[in-house]
Amino acid sequence: MMMLRLSVAVLLLLPFALWCAYAQSPLVGITLVKNTTAKELGAYCLDGSLPAYQFSKGFGSGASNWLLHIEGGGWCNDVKSCLERATTRIGSSSYMTENVFSGILSNNQSLNPDFYNWNRVMLRYCDGASFAGNSMYQNGNSSLYFRGQKIWQAIISDLLPQGLAHAEKALLSGCSAGGLAVFLHCDNFSRKDVAKSEMIRTLYHDVVSLQGVEQNLNQNCTSSQIDPKQCFFPQYFLSYIKTPIFILNTAYDTWQFYNVLVPSSADPGGVWNSCKKNLTTCTDSQIQTLQDFRLDMLNATNSFYKSSTSGGMFINSCFAHCQTQHQETWFAANSPRMQNKTIAEAVGDWYFERNETKLIDCPYPCGSTCQY
Ligand SMILES: *[C@@H]1O[C@H](CO)[C@@H](O)[C@H](O)[C@H]1NC(C)=O
Ligand SMILES: *[C@@H]1O[C@H](CO)[C@@H](O)[C@H](O)[C@H]1NC(C)=O
Ligand SMILES: *[C@@H]1O[C@H](CO)[C@@H](O)[C@H](O)[C@H]1NC(C)=O
Ligand SMILES: *[C@@H]1O[C@H](CO)[C@@H](O)[C@H](O)[C@H]1NC(C)=O
Ligand SMILES: *[C@@H]1O[C@H](CO)[C@@H](O)[C@H](O)[C@H]1NC(C)=O
Ligand SMILES: *[C@@H]1O[C@H](CO)[C@@H](O)[C@H](O)[C@H]1NC(C)=O
Ligand SMILES: *[C@@H]1O[C@H](CO)[C@@H](O)[C@H](O)[C@H]1NC(C)=O
Ligand SMILES: *[C@@H]1O[C@H](CO)[C@@H](O)[C@H](O)[C@H]1NC(C)=O
Ligand SMILES: *[C@@H]1O[C@H](CO)[C@@H](O)[C@H](O)[C@H]1NC(C)=O
Repeated sequence: MMMLRLSVAVLLLLPFALWCAYAQSPLVGITLVKNTTAKELGAYCLDGSLPAYQFSKGFGSGASNWLLHIEGGGWCNDVKSCLERATTRIGSSSYMTENVFSGILSNNQSLNPDFYNWNRVMLRYCDGASFAGNSMYQNGNSSLYFRGQKIWQAIISDLLPQGLAHAEKALLSGCSAGGLAVFLHCDNFSRKDVAKSEMIRTLYHDVVSLQGVEQNLNQNCTSSQIDPKQCFFPQYFLSYIKTPIFILNTAYDTWQFYNVLVPSSADPGGVWNSCKKNLTTCTDSQIQTLQDFRLDMLNATNSFYKSSTSGGMFINSCFAHCQTQHQETWFAANSPRMQNKTIAEAVGDWYFERNETKLIDCPYPCGSTCQY
C-alpha cells in the first residue's frame, strides 16, 4: 500500500520515464543509530531524537565497497530557525520517511554503472550545520542539540561493524549542505559556495558560532587564517585536504543563485524574479552578473584545477543543484555531458583512475546538454 501511494505521489511530480525507474526500485527504510552509540557520544538530532541513515546492502563484486552519501538541506543559523527545523525531517528522525535511492545511490546497473552494487548509505541530515557542530542550547523548556560532529561519528561507528571497517573501496559523496560536509569530513573518513554576498557569509558565520563548529574545522586551515571561521568555506581549506576529492558543481548552481547571489532580501523590488524563472528573459547586465559569479567560482577552484594531481572536477554550465542524487542529471540519455561524458562516467573515470577528469564547460549559453 505504502509503495503504491508513493508511486502515485511521485508520478505527479516527475516525468514518466523517471517514475518508471523509481517505481521499480524498492523503498529504503530508515535505520536509527544504536541507542547506546548515540548516548555514549551524545549524538542527537536537533530535537534530541536518534540520528539515522538508510542502508542498502552491496552485492556481487561490490559487496566490500562502500558509498556514503550525505543528505543536504541548508543550514539553521539562529535558535528560531533551528527550533522550526527540529519539527521537520531535517531536524528530527521522528519525521524522516523511507524513500527510493536514485542517481549515485541507485542499485540498477543501467542507471548507476560503477556504484550500483556497492553498499550504499544515505546519511540523513538532522543537525543544521553540515555534520560539524558540537554544542547545546537550553532555555526553559526548549532545548536544541547541535551535535552534527557527533552524528557523523555515531553513524560511522554504527557502520564500521557492518563491513565499513573492512571496506576495500570507499567513496564519500554529498549534496549541498551534505557536499560541504564531505569537504569537512573526508580526511577523517579516509584515514580510517563560493559565497559572494555578505548575507551568506553572515549566515555561515552564525551557523559556526551557534553550533560550536569551529573546534571541528581543519586545524591547519584555522591556524593560518585571520578569521578561523573562514575555514567553513571550502575554498579556504581545500588545499589542506589530503583525500582525493572530486568537485562536482555547476558554475550556475541554482541554490546559490537564488540564495547567495540574489536572495530575495537583496532584491525587494523583484527585479530578478523573471530572470530566475526564465533565463531567456534575463537582461544583459543580469547575465553579466551570472558570468561574474561563474568566474568567481572558477577562480576559487583554480589552484585545485591546476595543482591537484589526485583531484577531479566537473564544472558544467547548467542551472541545477545536487546533480548526483537525481537520476536525470547523474546518468540518463539526456543528462548533462562534457566531452560527451555524463557525470556518472566522469566520477567513475576519476574514482577508478580510468582517465584524468577535470572538466570545465564554457560559459552559458554553452551546455547544449543542459535541461534548463
Ligand atoms: C533498470 O533501469 C532500466 C532503465 O530505466 C530499466 O529498464 C530496468 O527495468 C531497471 N531494472 C530493474 C531491475 O529495475
Ligand atoms: C534509548 O533507550 C532507553 C532505554 O532503552 C530509552 O529510555 C530512551 O528513550 C532511548 N532513547 C532514544 C533517544 O530513543
Ligand atoms: C514549561 O513546561 C511546564 C510543564 O509542561 C509548563 O507548565 C510551563 O509553562 C512551560 N514553560 C514555558 C516557558 O513554556
Ligand atoms: C575522526 O574523528 C573522530 C572525532 O574527532 C576521532 O575520534 C577519530 O579518531 C577520527 N578518525 C580518524 C581516522 O582520524
Ligand atoms: C596538518 O599538517 C601536518 C603537516 O603536513 C599534518 O601532519 C597534519 O595531519 C595536518 N592536520 C590536519 C588536521 O590535516
Ligand atoms: C521564456 O521566455 C521566452 C521569451 O520571453 C519565451 O519565448 C518562452 O516561452 C519562455 N519559456 C518558458 C518556459 O516560459
Ligand atoms: C582569486 O583567488 C585568489 C586565491 O585563490 C584570491 O586571492 C583572489 O582575490 C581571487 N580573485 C578574485 C578576483 O576574486
Ligand atoms: C556520446 O556517447 C554516446 C554513448 O554514451 C554515444 O552513443 C555517442 O556516439 C557519443 N557521441 C560522440 C559524438 O562521441
Ligand atoms: C580520456 O579522456 C579524453 C578526453 O576526454 C578522451 O579523448 C580519451 O579518449 C579518454 N581516454 C580513455 C581511455 O577513455
